[in-house]
Amino acid sequence: MVLGIGGSALGPIAVHTALHSDFYNFLPPEKRDYRPKIFFLDNVDPDRIEAILDFLDDRLEGTYFNVITKSGGTAETLANFMVFRDRLCQRLGRQFSDHFLVTTDPESGTLRQIALEENYPILTIPKNVGGRFSVFTPVGLLPSAVTGIDIHELLAGARKMDQLCQIDDIWKNPAYLKGTLDYVADTCMGRNIQVMLSYSHRLRDVADWFRQLWAESLGKRYNLDEEDVYVGTTPVKAVGVTDQHSQLQLYLEGPKDKAITFLSVEEHSKNTPIPEDFSDKAGISYLGGHTMNELFDAERLATEFALMKAGRMTATITLGRISPFTLGQLLYFFEMETVFVGFLYGINPFDQPGVELGKRATYDMMGRPGYEGMKDEVKAMLNNKDSKYIVESH
Ligand code: PA5
Repeated sequence: MVLGIGGSALGPIAVHTALHSDFYNFLPPEKRDYRPKIFFLDNVDPDRIEAILDFLDDRLEGTYFNVITKSGGTAETLANFMVFRDRLCQRLGRQFSDHFLVTTDPESGTLRQIALEENYPILTIPKNVGGRFSVFTPVGLLPSAVTGIDIHELLAGARKMDQLCQIDDIWKNPAYLKGTLDYVADTCMGRNIQVMLSYSHRLRDVADWFRQLWAESLGKRYNLDEEDVYVGTTPVKAVGVTDQHSQLQLYLEGPKDKAITFLSVEEHSKNTPIPEDFSDKAGISYLGGHTMNELFDAERLATEFALMKAGRMTATITLGRISPFTLGQLLYFFEMETVFVGFLYGINPFDQPGVELGKRATYDMMGRPGYEGMKDEVKAMLNNKDSKYIVESH
């Protein structure tokens, strides 16, 4: 079980869902190469936690927790850690500490202190790598390795992309090229929404990971000269073909405020034929004899065509197939693009000062010493809020 949030969860989740079956945890052990099942908990919603506690109740002895937090002090991750630690203590007594591993800063942080006191193994995240850029550190590598993903190939992919992204020529450097297009689309053409439309169900969580990377890195009030600039485009996740029946109408006929990036895959893991049934019914028989792969590709091409015809801005990134090597390239590419766009905006892509106020207010409401003084302001502001709606329970 991985406990973490933000960059300490989204990277490992993206790698897991891209490279394992959707039903990995349901597979019999031999189909998982006798690797462990893996779960990620990146929220503190009590309903979810209770559901997990129920599920784990008679499995606790065989469950190991990797608590990931770069700062070592994130309230959500620490609260989850405390809940599971307590449950393990009750069940296993002193043996509980054998069930924890910590992935955190090499020098500081509350969790690091606890890990040293309670004797948990510690993996370190390099000091100069922030959460949302940490997928190629133990944050992303350990959960991947224990489930059998070839992390050497993942890193080889990242290295290959790193070489490409060192090239000065903008036409040959993918991060420079896409970054420039996205920057121009926003600042000169009003495309301030960045849709990642993945025509691969397996890459759906790459789009989720990207949302955080892009939003936290680029959504900034101040530039490097500390002037107000209020920059950043809004990343949106969409999955083809599912969202053709949900979002596409808006993308085609709504405001021209979106730059849409297709993720596509040339070769899927299997070729799934569609049976030649219902030959007397023209409304369905045309599908027979084709493959799901053909249908999926036709839908992607048709959507790309329709968007282009409607004058919408699109770009396409194609992976030959999904493998650790290509995924490593893709994730690294987006990291480099994001930093480059940050440079074009003239902002710092590595901080996230905006989220601090909410964190401080949470700390005060939870009684953390040193953070007093905000609780009343929060209450007063929310009590005076006009737009509040209550859905009655009865
Ligand atoms: O990108 C970031 O730095 C953040 O999104 C963090 O990943 C997130 O806040 C979790 O922080 P931590 O890893 O310190 O628990």
